[in-house]
Amino acid sequence: MRTEGDTWDISTGVGSTALFVAAARALAGRGSEPLAVEPYAEFLVREAGPEWADLLDGKMAEHPLLDPRFGVYFQLYQAARTKYFDDYFATAMRAGVRQIVILGAGLDARAYRLPWPDGTTIYELDRTTVLEFKRRALSSCGDEPRADRREVPVDLREDWSKILREHGFDPSEATAWLAEGLLYYLSAAAGDQLFDDIELASAPGSRVAIEEPPTVPDQAPAEPADRPCHMSSQPDWADLVYNEQGSDAVEWFTARGWDATGVTFPDYLDSLDRTAEAVFNDRGWSPSLMRLMTAVRPPRPISR
Ligand SMILES: C[S@@+](CC[C@H](N)C(=O)[O-])C[C@H]1O[C@@H](n2cnc3c(N)ncnc32)[C@H](O)[C@@H]1O
Repeated sequence: MRTEGDTWDISTGVGSTALFVAAARALAGRGSEPLAVEPYAEFLVREAGPEWADLLDGKMAEHPLLDPRFGVYFQLYQAARTKYFDDYFATAMRAGVRQIVILGAGLDARAYRLPWPDGTTIYELDRTTVLEFKRRALSSCGDEPRADRREVPVDLREDWSKILREHGFDPSEATAWLAEGLLYYLSAAAGDQLFDDIELASAPGSRVAIEEPPTVPDQAPAEPADRPCHMSSQPDWADLVYNEQGSDAVEWFTARGWDATGVTFPDYLDSLDRTAEAVFNDRGWSPSLMRLMTAVRPPRPISR
């Protein structure tokens, strides 16, 4: 059960979901012809401790990520969403955007992995403890970020945009925003506030990319698996999510003049000439219910 101002670190509560999806990315990258390869995911997950290393080494057969049906389908989804958002950033780079904000960054390693043009600044927003774990882990990998990477410790349920500006963010410059794997962990009101804050801080030419959770009509908790992590002292995933239906992101941004488009996971797979039978868990949740969306705020017209 979520409470106002609740806290976590990388291996507890909401923080452990960052490890869960990073582990899925690491496993997904090992298959033949993977949709995305994320070498930092494996490194970061192993730094979280022996249980996580055991998972990557296949020693936790009962773990949902290793379930031959559900886990494999979930891994495919994680690889697909990585590719979708990598492509989004590639388009933003080509369009000349040099200011990047990753909301709920978790173990996202794009600052180290993608070929950012000179002059790019990447703001990674998450809880202090998650950012601290990531900093410690990455400092031992020996690599340097490929952009000016700035950690911004915040609670995204509070006034984070002020803290973002204090770290150097310039609202007059076009920005590419990302909210990947985040909205489940915000109430509907906090999610809508997040959209408001993005809109307010977005100069013309800005972009946003969002992973949207599905509607869950009967308010029953939607779960990707019985537990996110069959690890000691891990909470049920259902206790970590708000499961409140916020605004439809495509409609929300379209109504405010952005060019927005969304795609469900099955349709995205089709567009990549990949097929996979949709797999649902015993509570009716499936990655096939997820939607990925992007929107562009039209550039300012050139005045004559
Ligand atoms: C499922 S993980 C996704 C991480 C990353 N975006 C990815 O896709 O790998 C969710 C992340 O959102 C962060 N998060 C959730 N609610 C937050 C909040 N209120 N304030 C700051 N970070 C939050 C968590 O700490 C966690 O790192």
